Amino acid sequence: MKQLRLSLVGFGVVGQGFAELLATKHDLLRSHYDFEVKLVGVANSQGFIYREEGLDIPTLLELGKRRAALTQHPGVQSWKNALDGVRATRGDVLVEVTGTNLRDAEPAISHIRAALTQNMHVITANKGPGALAAIDLMHLAHEHHVQLRMEATVMAGTPVLSTIREGLAGARVRSIRGILNGTTNYILSAMAGGRNYSDVLAEAQAQGYAETDPTADVEGYDAVAKALILSALVFGHTVTIDQVVREGITQVTKEQIHKANHENKRIKLLTSLHVVADLGECPLDVRVEPQALPLSDPLARVDGVMNAITFQTDTLSEVTVIGPGAGSVQTAQGLLADLIAIAKS
Ligand code: HSE
Repeated sequence: MKQLRLSLVGFGVVGQGFAELLATKHDLLRSHYDFEVKLVGVANSQGFIYREEGLDIPTLLELGKRRAALTQHPGVQSWKNALDGVRATRGDVLVEVTGTNLRDAEPAISHIRAALTQNMHVITANKGPGALAAIDLMHLAHEHHVQLRMEATVMAGTPVLSTIREGLAGARVRSIRGILNGTTNYILSAMAGGRNYSDVLAEAQAQGYAETDPTADVEGYDAVAKALILSALVFGHTVTIDQVVREGITQVTKEQIHKANHENKRIKLLTSLHVVADLGECPLDVRVEPQALPLSDPLARVDGVMNAITFQTDTLSEVTVIGPGAGSVQTAQGLLADLIAIAKS
């Protein structure tokens, strides 16, 4: 049976969710997909631990829950940082799930470059590297005959990138519209039901939906990151953050929500990408902004942490995918699907 040696960098909400899912799905991976995963390395901000015979997931989860040092896991070697650990131990697959940083994508982009350069496949839920350098990183993976997959970066485990890559293969995507941030949709839906912004934001944080700094969610940067990933992977164009028209939800008032309800509309943080001929250097018009959508628009009825994306294509007209956009297990599902795709290849 094929065995994949895997290192997991990032052991917060998403990393722990993924480790838990690996344990839950262990038998299924063997019986259904004919491979076994050996989790040999794990890193958090305190450092990287490694055990050639494999780490014990329940022990790791228990240490994670208590925020105890991972070096308390019996029989491990350790390094002060993830980059040194990844470089020293190699392995078949790196799962990179550190927190997103949209300024320079560090430290994730260095972890990913190091892994690809030493011929490791990479799976990530971190939106920074894909948003800032998807095309370069895909080239690097190609040069080293390995895969870089990032299903979990857009709408968590809901299959968006694989839908475009496999399901819609051969179709030309002309434009995209979507609700691509779980936290803001959770907040706006609850506000439409009469609740307070700050109460619901706290709830979204407690559920593990929000970014470490939720400004990224409520000011629209997280949705921008997803739009940049789609620009690169669907349209093949690198768009920069400052080329996106962006407005978050912090200026949306109770009165605007009330007025929209009254007019049978719902305010949603809408992300859109359109191909345009005459935008000079940037052939895409990319926007993230609150819009009042009539209830006849299917996106208006997507509530809570659910997200949705509609592709306008030449062959199928409109195709819409709806599903959870955030959450620990929900994001882990995207990582798992990428892992299975790599194992199959
Ligand atoms: N904070 C993000 C969201 C997580 O709320 O959508 C998933 O990318």
